[in-house]
Amino acid sequence: MDKIVVLDFGSQYSHLICRRIRDSNVYCELLPYNSPLSLIENLEPKGIVLSGGPSSVYLQGSPKPDKQIFDMGIPVLGICYGHQLIVDEFKGKIKRFDNREYGYADLVIDDNSDLFKGINKKIKCWMSHADAAEDIPNNFEILAHTDNSFSAAIANRDKKIYGIQFHPEVSHTEQGNRILRNFSQSISNAKPDWTMQNFIDFTINEIKRKVQDDRVLCAISGGIDSTTLAVLLNKAIGNKLISVFVNNGLLRLNEEELVPKLINKYLGINTVCINAEERFLSRLEGIGDPEQKRKIIGEEFAQVFLQVTRDYGPFQWLAQGTLYPDVIESGFSKGPAAVIKTHHNVGGLPQWLNLKVLEPFRSLYKDEVRQIAVLLDIPNEFIKRHPFPGPGLAVRIIGEITAEKIRIVRHASSIVESELMISGWYDKVWQAYAAVGDDLAVGVLGDERVYGHIVTIRIVESLDAMTADWSRIPYDLISKISNRITNEVNGVAWVTYSVSSKPPATIEPQ
Ligand code: XMP
Repeated sequence: MDKIVVLDFGSQYSHLICRRIRDSNVYCELLPYNSPLSLIENLEPKGIVLSGGPSSVYLQGSPKPDKQIFDMGIPVLGICYGHQLIVDEFKGKIKRFDNREYGYADLVIDDNSDLFKGINKKIKCWMSHADAAEDIPNNFEILAHTDNSFSAAIANRDKKIYGIQFHPEVSHTEQGNRILRNFSQSISNAKPDWTMQNFIDFTINEIKRKVQDDRVLCAISGGIDSTTLAVLLNKAIGNKLISVFVNNGLLRLNEEELVPKLINKYLGINTVCINAEERFLSRLEGIGDPEQKRKIIGEEFAQVFLQVTRDYGPFQWLAQGTLYPDVIESGFSKGPAAVIKTHHNVGGLPQWLNLKVLEPFRSLYKDEVRQIAVLLDIPNEFIKRHPFPGPGLAVRIIGEITAEKIRIVRHASSIVESELMISGWYDKVWQAYAAVGDDLAVGVLGDERVYGHIVTIRIVESLDAMTADWSRIPYDLISKISNRITNEVNGVAWVTYSVSSKPPATIEPQ
């Protein structure tokens, strides 16, 4: 299979490059920036992308690739820091500018013959850098510029080396996918034969090969990832699979009844339901720190799995629907990405559980899993459900988790979701929920003064949760949701609407 290699210099977006290239059906792998030349050569990539990264090329010790990649005779595309590496390597000059360029910029295309083929003359692009080229190297020409970057895109066509200062991989850049497709398919000539059907066939065989006669426990939440995983496992190993659904006391309204019903009705998979509400909530008492909460929840899941193993085992494997973004944002990527949040299913299982981990979706993005779900004929009841985080409402409760805050978040979130469904907005957005913290505000209810909680509504649009934007739902709809929450949810005085995109914010507040 033809492939593109992305060398990761530590940008939060590195894997997104990989993801976007796969979007256009070209297989793409992310490797650490310092991968030896022999490893890269063995993969026989059709092209190499150098990612962005937080460092400055002129600093001692800044990450550099093996220089011989530039002599492999295959196209190279540098993005942001990768672009600066190219300028530096070929004797141009990079320096720090006082006006750091962060956010949207207008990119004017000066040459649309290859990298920018089919791209509008002027597009919005996403910039995130303080360093930029002061001089570009000899034999490079300028392909595009912005007001602040005279050389926002450069190329040396003889050597097939391209550099772009902006990030085509984030959804904020218009036609960014097309730019990456031009690089991977037209400039690098990679064939687009990476499809989800190929992935399914390959993965079923892999699961069979790994599991053999062992038994597998699969944690299922009713969300798309774990459901799709269970269906795929069921196809691969049939009754050697037992799935477990855990009520951790932090589920959405009525979820503990709905999910087992849906699984029974549509999937026909052996499922054990465990009510572990008491043990999760008592361990979380008095804990306000977000990472501490995640750690405790992870530990309690492990305890529940141990009990299930004793009662229904033996099992040799635990399967989890961990996705690539969970891996990256937990700081377990192959490159130097910073830890954003410890996703509870990524930290690894404690040794005492004595279970091996099966994570077939570890390199996939959410929308790739959705495509697999469609190919596996999983009903829309599952596919269309919004993602819900493993640690549940805990990540939507800021500060200590109390029964009062759980009640507020659960009820308010159900109002948000139901109003979106009624108005037809549910399917247009990625996630929609209410969050609550400890801040109180004064209100008037009837003729009485109330001093109640502030609830924040967060509704976001996204392709894969790596970047997201707040949803511009109609004011009237926000108003209706707000009125319903203050009228129907006891103890709420104010409702606010979150207008932060990701980045710089994240989707969940904790
Ligand atoms: P953030 O808040 O990191 O969320 O922007 C990105 C996506 O991941 C979901 N999320 C999680 N999913 N375990 C999960 O299975 C977790 O610990 C977790 N934390 C966040 C979040 O709902 C969003 O879709």
